[in-house]
Amino acid sequence: MSRYDLLAPLLACPACGGPLDVVGAGAACRGCGLQFPVIGGLAWLFVEPQAALADWRGRLRLLEQHLEREAALHRAGLSLAGLHPLTRLRLEAQAGALEAHSRLVQALLEPLGLTGREERHEVHLALGTRLPLSQGLTNYYANLHRDWAWGDQENAASLAEVLAVLAPGGAPSRLLVLGAGGGRLAYDLHQSLPLEVTLALDFNPLLATVGQRVSAGEKLDLFEFPIAPRSLAEHGLRRTLAAPAPSRPGLEFVLGDALAAPFADGTFDAVLTPWFVDIVPDDLPALMARINRLIAPGGRWVFFGSLAWADRPPERCYSLEELLALAPAAGFEAGPPRETPLPYMRSPASRHARIEAVVSFAARKVAEVERPAPPVRPDWLERTDLPVPALPAFREQSLSTRVYAFIMAMIDGKRSIRDMARLMEEQRLMTSADAEPAIQGFLARMHEDAQRRANF
Ligand SMILES: C[S@@+](CC[C@H](N)C(=O)[O-])C[C@H]1O[C@@H](n2cnc3c(N)ncnc32)[C@H](O)[C@@H]1O
Repeated sequence: MSRYDLLAPLLACPACGGPLDVVGAGAACRGCGLQFPVIGGLAWLFVEPQAALADWRGRLRLLEQHLEREAALHRAGLSLAGLHPLTRLRLEAQAGALEAHSRLVQALLEPLGLTGREERHEVHLALGTRLPLSQGLTNYYANLHRDWAWGDQENAASLAEVLAVLAPGGAPSRLLVLGAGGGRLAYDLHQSLPLEVTLALDFNPLLATVGQRVSAGEKLDLFEFPIAPRSLAEHGLRRTLAAPAPSRPGLEFVLGDALAAPFADGTFDAVLTPWFVDIVPDDLPALMARINRLIAPGGRWVFFGSLAWADRPPERCYSLEELLALAPAAGFEAGPPRETPLPYMRSPASRHARIEAVVSFAARKVAEVERPAPPVRPDWLERTDLPVPALPAFREQSLSTRVYAFIMAMIDGKRSIRDMARLMEEQRLMTSADAEPAIQGFLARMHEDAQRRANF
């Protein structure tokens, strides 16, 4: 039986819910005809697969350029006079590590089809700034090293927690892991339990590619760049990522958005969300309703991780008590939570590590609930042939972008801040008295931003 024979009956079109036909080179919806590419053995099951592909290609390009710049910055440091020989050694080693790392990541993601494209860094920054910064390819990159290089103790502790909350209800046979990352927990569960199928879903192709290839038995080399290296030699470490053994058949990785998960209703008897619920933008009740629809009646949702809500209003930053109290309205009866202090991302090469009081519980699905409406996008965003409306927010953005461009264009290597303030007054944008401190503050921020080394 091919892996697609196993996978295809579980999948559904993330756009219309129709059944999917999966073949080696791609998948297609029998309902709406949407086509999904299969790239490097991973099915891209997004509502807009081509847009997702373009988006991740953009992020890969940003990462490449970021690594090139970082390497160049380290090499430029080498030209400074009076460097201590150890500093020289560190800069040289780190530049080499960054360059080698870039080559390894490019080779790994070569199937994405980026090689040979010459796109300007500035265009990606301008068009994609928000996405790459919030969810770049290397968000959670360190997890790969924990999963497949040095994290035996942490991985075993995580597995033990999840097994403990699953035990009272018995082993599931179809498990979905949402936001599976590098996939170690999915792998460990698949190896430990008599699961027929374990699906690891994530939207990050770097994490899913490594998870898929390593869990199938490949060894992959990648560099680790610890947050606080313990020694000079540990600033950029080449590590070999490997699984203890190739996984049993039935463990599969797919790419998709957990908020529009490409599976038919009631497909799984367990859905695990490891370190996931508090990082997605969905409000908890809506997210729980989405999870509910994926689970068969009587099946379980397994929560594992933290409650460190970010980027949302205070009323949506729920305590554990609120989470448990909201579960029944989403059709769940939650079992008693465990709270266990666990080491988190304790790389032997880093001085930085966390201990988290990790929460885990299993919640049984006792009722169906209304499925939250998918986010509706306006027609002009859906259809690329329609005029884009001149919304007040767009006009405002356009004006501020022009002011921004005007200030940047005034920088010619000759004008002072005072000269620029005068020009601002001439253009009736501001009085020169107000413009002077405003430009000063603006340029200070630009200068600061230029020093900051963004991470993609
Ligand atoms: C905090 S990490 C946890 C990763 C993994 N579960 C672990 O414990 O190592 C969150 C994961 O969710 C993924 N993710 C975030 N939003 C997602 C979405 N809407 N759909 C699919 N995956 C998502 C990220 O790429 C990342 O791998």
